[in-house]
Amino acid sequence: MWVFGYGSLIWKVDFSYEEKVIGYIKGFSRRFWQGSTDHRGVPGKPGRVVTLVEDPEGCVWGVAYKLPTGREQEVKRYLDHREKGGYRVMTVTFHPRQDSGRTPAQTLLYIGSRDNPDYLGPAPLEDIANQIVTSTGPSGQNTEYLFQLAEAVRSVLPEDKDAHLFSLERLVRERLEDRHAVK
Ligand code: SIN
Repeated sequence: MWVFGYGSLIWKVDFSYEEKVIGYIKGFSRRFWQGSTDHRGVPGKPGRVVTLVEDPEGCVWGVAYKLPTGREQEVKRYLDHREKGGYRVMTVTFHPRQDSGRTPAQTLLYIGSRDNPDYLGPAPLEDIANQIVTSTGPSGQNTEYLFQLAEAVRSVLPEDKDAHLFSLERLVRERLEDRHAVK
């Protein structure tokens, strides 16, 4: 059993796996359109985390993990719990990076689709940046989630030129600098 991570599953690897492979999936784009009331926000004041939205031209890079043989269900149960904030599981075709010597294969992934109660949907980038700057939840600050993801994509998945992610990173850094400047 393989699970593809495109958000926190790239950089927060608190689960066992047997193998990992870098690659991409087609037909989606990564967006901060999922609300988080259990990790990076709280009920009534949600943070914003990533989900995938259908995009015929889209391509999202991430990391596919092979769950440990014989313990797949145990680890999957843990991931289901971790990703319970509106995400459901779907199956997609994963394309490994060419130098991995592997062929495309089916993987599971967690997606917050439009019909889940925590889904927030599109908003102006400035508004999303403001929401991220002011949100925090049991797993920590929403800004940490954004910065860790941007840094991981930059260093581990340089093929992914995610303009949405990197524009938000820039806007949020500007806002934090402005805050420090006025103090
Ligand atoms: C993922 O990382 O693949 C799912 C979204 C998240 O937990 O950030």
